[in-house]
Amino acid sequence: MIESKIKDTVRDVADFPKPGIIFKDITPILKDAALCAEITQALAERLSGVQVDVVAGIESRGFLFGMLLAQALKVPFVPIRKAGKLPFKTIQQACNLEYGSAILELHEDALEAGQKVLVHDDLLATGGTVVAASKLIQQLGAEVTAFSFIIGLDFLNGREKLEEFRPLTFSLASYR
Ligand code: PRP
Ligand code: MG
Repeated sequence: MIESKIKDTVRDVADFPKPGIIFKDITPILKDAALCAEITQALAERLSGVQVDVVAGIESRGFLFGMLLAQALKVPFVPIRKAGKLPFKTIQQACNLEYGSAILELHEDALEAGQKVLVHDDLLATGGTVVAASKLIQQLGAEVTAFSFIIGLDFLNGREKLEEFRPLTFSLASYR
C-alpha cells in the first residue's frame, strides 16, 4: 500500500530546522525510482474525474512531484516561488509557516482566468503555504480545484484552513 511505503521510506529528523520540530525528510523517497513512479501514479489516480488544467507546485519540495504529476496528467506546470526568485513580473502573497514566515510569488502571466488549478506540495502542515498559494491563483482569476500532498500532518489541522477554498484535498500518507 502506497501510504505504508511512504511512511516506511520517509526519514524523521529531530530538531530541524529548529529545536522541537520533527522534520519529514522525503529525500529517501527520491532515491527510489520505482516508488517515485508509484507516487506519481497514485496522485494522478486520486485526481481521476477532476478537471485539472494546470498543476501549480510550491517551492521547493512541491516542484519535485508537482512536475512529475503535471507530466502524468499532460498539463502545464507553474512554479510558485519564494520572493525574489521568479525573473518576470510577479504578484505576491505573504504566508505564515510552521516555522517562520515567507512571501510567495507567481508570474502574473502564469495562469489564465477560469483555469482550474491543482495546488501540489510535498507536505501539508499548518496550511499557511497553500493558503497563500491559493490566494495567488485567485488573484489571477483562476480557480483552485484540488490540493494534493504526499504527506499530511493532520494533527496540525491544516485542512480546516483549506475548507474556505472548498476543493478536494488529499494526502497519500497522513499522520494523525
Ligand atoms: C515546507 C513544506 C511545505 C510547507 C508546509 O516547506 O515543504 O511547503 O513547509 O508548511 P505549512 O503547511 O505550515 O505552510 P519549507 O518552507 O520548509 O520549504 P522547502 O519546501 O523549500 O524546503
Ligand atoms: Mg515546501
